[in-house]
Amino acid sequence: MDRLRGTGGALSRHRGHAHALRAALQRPSPGARRLPPFSRMPARAIRSVHVQHTRPRARSDDSPGTRRSRVIEQHPARAFDGTCTAPAARSDRMRDIVLAHVSPAAPVRVLDLGCGTGSLLFRLAEALPAATLIGVDVSPANVHAAQQQQAAGTPAARVRFEMADYLTYRAEPFDVIVTDGVLHVIAAETGVLVRKLANDLRAGGLLMCNMPFDCRYNRTFSLIRRALRRVQSPWVDRRILQVGRLLHGRDMDENGLRERVAYMYMPPARMMDERLARHFASAGLERMAEYPTPNTSLSQLRHRVTVFVRRDA
Ligand SMILES: C[S@@+](CC[C@H](N)C(=O)[O-])C[C@H]1O[C@@H](n2cnc3c(N)ncnc32)[C@H](O)[C@@H]1O
Repeated sequence: MDRLRGTGGALSRHRGHAHALRAALQRPSPGARRLPPFSRMPARAIRSVHVQHTRPRARSDDSPGTRRSRVIEQHPARAFDGTCTAPAARSDRMRDIVLAHVSPAAPVRVLDLGCGTGSLLFRLAEALPAATLIGVDVSPANVHAAQQQQAAGTPAARVRFEMADYLTYRAEPFDVIVTDGVLHVIAAETGVLVRKLANDLRAGGLLMCNMPFDCRYNRTFSLIRRALRRVQSPWVDRRILQVGRLLHGRDMDENGLRERVAYMYMPPARMMDERLARHFASAGLERMAEYPTPNTSLSQLRHRVTVFVRRDA
């Protein structure tokens, strides 16, 4: 079960909780050995999102005591009506982190929340041949693209894509929830979102989320995105695209660049910090590991992967 190296106390606490997944969390996979050891990165520390040309308004609301944080006040289906695909290297890394915690042979139920076009879910389907995997995304374009790709290969019985707003999505609890670049864009009060995540996990189940963390770079970038949103227009879109081509024209195709223009108008609704971790803790989700996410571009918010285990009720 020691699938992470150097996790010390966090992992031994996890042992006490992970009855349901005990069979799933066995010896380290080859992927685990390639990962950097557990690190508690500084509380201030990045990467990206997607919106169309609507103007979400921000509002304060968060944290159990103070209820202050930004929530994007907009129906997500209207914000996310295009496609969104993570760079392959990022999905590879996310898959490797999952494999560091879940045995490839385990018959686990996995949810990919905000699955985009299935970049991560298809990788997980290959890496976890006994798993049942569901990808949920609010964007019809994403789900359609994922289903088309699925029709070309992955066995349908094990892998399913559903178009749904996660906040109203209902399913049997999962063993693993993965979510890459999504939790900071979900338009909901943080407490509501975190409790839903906890309720959607079995006791001992794992939540692995990649999201921006609180650091000066991300705070500055949030301000820039907020300012851009105020002046959002086709002219600004074109300028953003020009800058994107200059910075990333070599490593990203035109579609990818266009997809990302909308990200520049979306400041994160929340970032991973101690306050958010307390939200998770109060919902029964105990932080057990963190992994840095390599930053691939200047325009990305800096992300980190945090793994939480659902304590027994
Ligand atoms: C930055 S993209 C990440 C996509 C994918 N995880 C990846 O890495 O390729 C954010 C995704 O979250 C989805 N999303 C946003 N709000 C959502 C919600 N309330 N329910 C389900 N999906 C949502 C968007 O449609 C979008 O595909």
